[in-house]
Amino acid sequence: MIQCLTAGIARPVCMNKADLIAEAERRTGLNRLDASRGVEATLEAIKMSLGAEDSILITGLGRLELKPKRSGLLPPNGIGPRPIPSGKAVRLKATRKGVVTLNTEPQPDSEIEFEFGGNMDKKNDNSNEVNNAAGSALGLDVGTSRLVLANGSSENFRTSAELNAFVSVPYSKFTENILKQNNVTYQLNGGSALQIFGNEAARFANFFNAEVRRPMMNGTLNPTEEYSLPVMEAIIEQLIKKTKRGENLRFSVPGALREGGSTDLVYHEAMLQSMLESLGYNAKPINEGMAVVYSELESENFSGIGISCGGGMCNVALAFMSLPVLTFSIGKAGDYIDRSVASVTGETPTRIRAIKEEGIDLIREPRNKYESALQVYYEDVILSLVEGLRSEIAATRNLPKIERPIPIVVSGGTAKPKGFIDRFRQTIDRDGFPLPLSDVRMADAPLTATARGCLIAALYDA
Ligand SMILES: Nc1ncnc2c1ncn2[C@@H]1O[C@H](COP(=O)(O)OP(=O)(O)OP(=O)(O)O)[C@@H](O)[C@H]1O
Ligand SMILES: [Mg+2]
Repeated sequence: MIQCLTAGIARPVCMNKADLIAEAERRTGLNRLDASRGVEATLEAIKMSLGAEDSILITGLGRLELKPKRSGLLPPNGIGPRPIPSGKAVRLKATRKGVVTLNTEPQPDSEIEFEFGGNMDKKNDNSNEVNNAAGSALGLDVGTSRLVLANGSSENFRTSAELNAFVSVPYSKFTENILKQNNVTYQLNGGSALQIFGNEAARFANFFNAEVRRPMMNGTLNPTEEYSLPVMEAIIEQLIKKTKRGENLRFSVPGALREGGSTDLVYHEAMLQSMLESLGYNAKPINEGMAVVYSELESENFSGIGISCGGGMCNVALAFMSLPVLTFSIGKAGDYIDRSVASVTGETPTRIRAIKEEGIDLIREPRNKYESALQVYYEDVILSLVEGLRSEIAATRNLPKIERPIPIVVSGGTAKPKGFIDRFRQTIDRDGFPLPLSDVRMADAPLTATARGCLIAALYDA
């Protein structure tokens, strides 16, 4: 073994390839030639899949990502085959907290740079802490259908989203190679299965003829899915990419179901909080309807009704001056529409979802049985939502005195179809509403309003 040196400073002991082969030989009982082939093949597989500027996740170790190499440490050009673009180093982000930088090419000892932290070396746990500058925070919409991350400032924010889904296929070298060739991030489940998660899950479900599995159901952790948390953790790590330890993060949680079943919420919230804290965040939950209020009602002093119509449920919050007066959810939303339309038309929910997302118009005369059924069940969701609002408001004691009319803002994927807001207004107008309304409108960006609201709450630590 050799001592790694960077700028004259002794760093932790590191291994070169010969050390790895010797270690593999010792641990496995293989002869040197076979151990050497195994190590070479592993390193080659990692290098080739990273050569396409991808990242790969190895369960129990962490994520290997290509990063620009720091100046002065560029590997010399023209040495052997270079599957990894020049000027890039491979960074291993350990499964929890740790960050290690590895070079992949054989290089002179002095050019190998390591940073240890977290599980990889507790002694240097602070070495990867990033200055938590003012205004640095994250908003995470934890949805049944999608996980959406928002970062930046409230005005200049960025969002990214991944499907909250995965497919699991039996492990084989062949399948793994297909995934690598397609630059797909996956995790190995104890070596027996390959789990492909996030946006790629839908694409590869068809390809491998595998069923899409959902970590969440009806707004909370799916009790029938044993891999809910590890898969969501992998998706969140993929979204966030670089952990800033101690950073404020707000994640959305649903309100109590009008139909009951609120004990699931306690478990859901506690498990997510603990997972996000274990990733290093100062994580706190925020009600999803309140997140919509934070995102959309700033110019109305955060007074009004925020609604998010998602996949598993519709979430509602009535707020005055940023304080929640009532919050609740209903269990009818996009998944309910898909299931119901599928059962009356003889199609699969997946196909109905595709038809729905291709662009349905809720005002126009239906052109086929799918559109007819979709209109019926959208109407059902809207009616349940408006009736829920009416009766929850009527049941709320000590409602603050409202001096001026308040707005209702609707967001979420289920509110996307053309005509949704018109149908919603019509339903409100038909039987009146217990509060004076100034406006019933769609959120500026319906698919990212919750994440933005979470970000605003995190920035102001509200
Ligand atoms: N363009 C679209 N047209 C119609 N429906 C859409 C469209 N885009 C997304 N959806 C539907 O919206 C739903 C997902 O919405 P969203 O992403 O807001 O949910 P979520 O936040 O993941 O779930 P929840 O908040 O219920 O836990 C799905 O039912 C999806 O089919
Ligand atoms: Mg949602």
